[in-house]
Amino acid sequence: MVDMKEISIIGALSQSGRYRVRALTRNLESPRAKLISDLPNVTLVRGSQDNQEDLHNLFRGAHGAWVNLDGFTLGEKDELFYGFRAYEIARSERVQHYVWANIEYALENAGFDERFHCGHMDSKGRVGKFILSLGQDGMKSTLFSTGPYMDMLIGGLLVPREQPDGTFAWVNPAPSDVKLPLIALLDVGIYNLWIFDNPGKSAGMDLSVVTDNVSFAEIAETFTEITGKKAAHVTVPFEKFASMEEPYPNAFVNWVLGPDAARDNSVMTWRDNFGSWWEYWGGGITKPRDVAILDRIHPTRIRSLKDWMEKVGYSGHRRSVLKMVDDWAEKTRTN
Ligand SMILES: NC(=O)c1ccc[n+]([C@@H]2O[C@H](COP(=O)([O-])OP(=O)(O)OC[C@H]3O[C@@H](n4cnc5c(N)ncnc54)[C@H](OP(=O)(O)O)[C@@H]3O)[C@@H](O)[C@H]2O)c1
Repeated sequence: MVDMKEISIIGALSQSGRYRVRALTRNLESPRAKLISDLPNVTLVRGSQDNQEDLHNLFRGAHGAWVNLDGFTLGEKDELFYGFRAYEIARSERVQHYVWANIEYALENAGFDERFHCGHMDSKGRVGKFILSLGQDGMKSTLFSTGPYMDMLIGGLLVPREQPDGTFAWVNPAPSDVKLPLIALLDVGIYNLWIFDNPGKSAGMDLSVVTDNVSFAEIAETFTEITGKKAAHVTVPFEKFASMEEPYPNAFVNWVLGPDAARDNSVMTWRDNFGSWWEYWGGGITKPRDVAILDRIHPTRIRSLKDWMEKVGYSGHRRSVLKMVDDWAEKTRTN
């Protein structure tokens, strides 16, 4: 399992010794919840992101809030509603500094072309705009914006497939030469510690982070350089990619709730959501990040895919990263 101390925001706040952290979870007993509660200065609070009483309870008496709603369980419509409400509830509870885990507003960046409507990105992006538009009086706010996690090369949509001849192949809809701004989870804790430590500088900011901008051709080349193994990138139509990666037939974006969960038609299908996701990132539409700011905030940050691969001992083999993937494996194992 991933090292929560190293990759989590809670881990960085806990290790600093400057913050006492209350973390929301639906299940106090899950293995990951226990790893988090074992960290110093951390307590768990049972509750759900889509329960307003739980949000009041969580924020009451807190100095700061770090909020990452999970679009992959909530779906786009609920993430919007609870995204607005979480901010409002934090203000009502007199929280001083609110950090919203943001993703850029893909639809806006793509000129409102519906091909780029990616629910799990757009819900965060819209809420981020709402939060900053309310200004800094009453409660400070900061957006912490991430693109795809570099760690998705370990466990997620960016893991290669080992071929019978030993070649590691990245097979997906992206053109080989388009660069994606990947962010290593090993570095996100430090950025967020800086945000809370420096409200005078971070308030009102959209801190958009990246570790390295890399194309799939570069990912394959770097992998070979590090491991000596053969690698390739193969561009395929989205439908072919989806037939290999869709969690189960006709899955929705909150697939982890299972095929029979109650949904209305605001919840995108996995194919529609990730079809747009690949169109967006593969289309090279995203704007460049300001790396000078990142270097100032985190001078020892990981600066390249190669450094990251060396640091994590990258092998190209799939390992656990996201909790939702573990949750689903557990659910299907016990059913
Ligand atoms: N994967 C990427 O590359 C990437 C990049 C940028 C942004 N994101 C965004 O990150 C979010 C997912 O977070 P993650 O990447 O950390 O995934 P993850 O590892 O699967 O974690 C999901 C977290 O959300 C919590 N959670 C889910 N539903 C909840 C609910 N109803 N109430 C309380 N807690 C709930 C889970 O806690 P419990 O299970 O303990 O309750 C868990 O801690 C998504 O919104 C996604 O858009 C992902």
